[in-house]
Amino acid sequence: MDKFLVEGVGPLTGDVRISGAKNAVLPILAATLLGSSESTIGNVPHLNDVTTTMSLLGRMGCGITVGDNMTVAVDPTLINDYTAAYELVRTMRASILVLGPLVARYGQAEVSLPGGCAIGARPVNIHIDGLRALGAEISIDGGYVRARAGRLQGARIAMDMVTVTGTENLLMAASLAKGESVLENAAREPEIVDLANYLIAMGAKIEGAGTSTIHVQGVDSLTGCHYDVVPDRIETGTFLVGAAVTRGRVKALNTVPGNLGVVLEKLREAGAEVTTGDDWIQADMHGNRPQAVSISTAPYPDFPTDMQAQFCVLNAVAEGTAKVIENVFENRFMHINELQRMGADMTVEGNSVTIRGIEKLRAAPVMATDLRASASLILAALMATGETEVRRVYHIDRGYERIEEKFHQLGAEIRRQPDK
Ligand code: UD1
Repeated sequence: MDKFLVEGVGPLTGDVRISGAKNAVLPILAATLLGSSESTIGNVPHLNDVTTTMSLLGRMGCGITVGDNMTVAVDPTLINDYTAAYELVRTMRASILVLGPLVARYGQAEVSLPGGCAIGARPVNIHIDGLRALGAEISIDGGYVRARAGRLQGARIAMDMVTVTGTENLLMAASLAKGESVLENAAREPEIVDLANYLIAMGAKIEGAGTSTIHVQGVDSLTGCHYDVVPDRIETGTFLVGAAVTRGRVKALNTVPGNLGVVLEKLREAGAEVTTGDDWIQADMHGNRPQAVSISTAPYPDFPTDMQAQFCVLNAVAEGTAKVIENVFENRFMHINELQRMGADMTVEGNSVTIRGIEKLRAAPVMATDLRASASLILAALMATGETEVRRVYHIDRGYERIEEKFHQLGAEIRRQPDK
């Protein structure tokens, strides 16, 4: 296990290249299982969650080749085991994404119930009910979801809640079902659109991805192809918040400005000058302290829960008082305790936190809890006096590629050390 030692060194300044999106590459790698031939996925970020997914597919018998230039080729034709074992799934909740493709293509799956970030109960009932509606027989036994099916049959599925991976599982399954499926109350995240575009490139017939009603005309087979993963909007947002927190200027390259609408609005409200081009975004604070900005998380296109922790840090050092409301997950304030240890003035009440900004935080030993919360601790450490020790950084490595190197390019001093 590693830890980071982070020095508060003043404004972050410079350019940073954004990697492929974690939340797009994971469903896309799972979707390679649907193909009748090899797919090559490009712009794959080097993340622990990607390694876990490759192990998952490799154990099933898929041929995996890691190529130059961030490509991963997956050949699903050799698959001979339809199991996702607990020891892998427990480290990554998104493993549940193999359930839909396995049932749709191979008529069988045994997938351990997920673990992953400790941010609330996070059930998978909508995934299971949806697959049942498509004709799969599913039982839950010994911590495993066991599914069997003949050819799935298209169905109209109204999801009770907006779920990102739930929508993805059902989209993948419906692509190979017989006849039409309609997914209602679908998640609208850009990562859903990216998955749909990959499926369409394989031969799927999908309309409406990115809206709350997705129509799928099932096809008999899908063919492997090459596909490049969309850039990561959460990584982009994290570095831009880094500029706001440290009163600096950061230009995120190789990104998609259109996927960060509300986040950019909130950065502007915080006082950043935000400029964009076709594939870049710059946030410039011109040396000024950020203004407090209240946020309330909700599914896309509203403010992302995956940016909530970073904006808590922004507010911790901002001028004024802000209220941050978490509506997506019931237990996503674990970073607050850690930030309080660094002197942040924060009061939690139910699913909201009131933050009164102070000029500077103080270094303290802190512990990463979930993935995005961990990144927020680095942001906090950058605006703290002294050297902050951030422990359990394996959470960060799950979702951010070479985060310390990228921050280093922007002038930060972060050292990685083994932690006993
Ligand atoms: C995905 C993202 C994660 C992000 C989250 C919300 C991936 C790999 N992960 O997670 O980074 O924080 O979306 O934007 O894409 N729910 C149910 N029943 C279900 C499924 C979900 O009640 O069957 C609830 C959850 O407990 C939660 C809410 O729905 O309260 C949203 O969760 P969901 O969108 O499913 O999150 P993930 O897809 O796991």
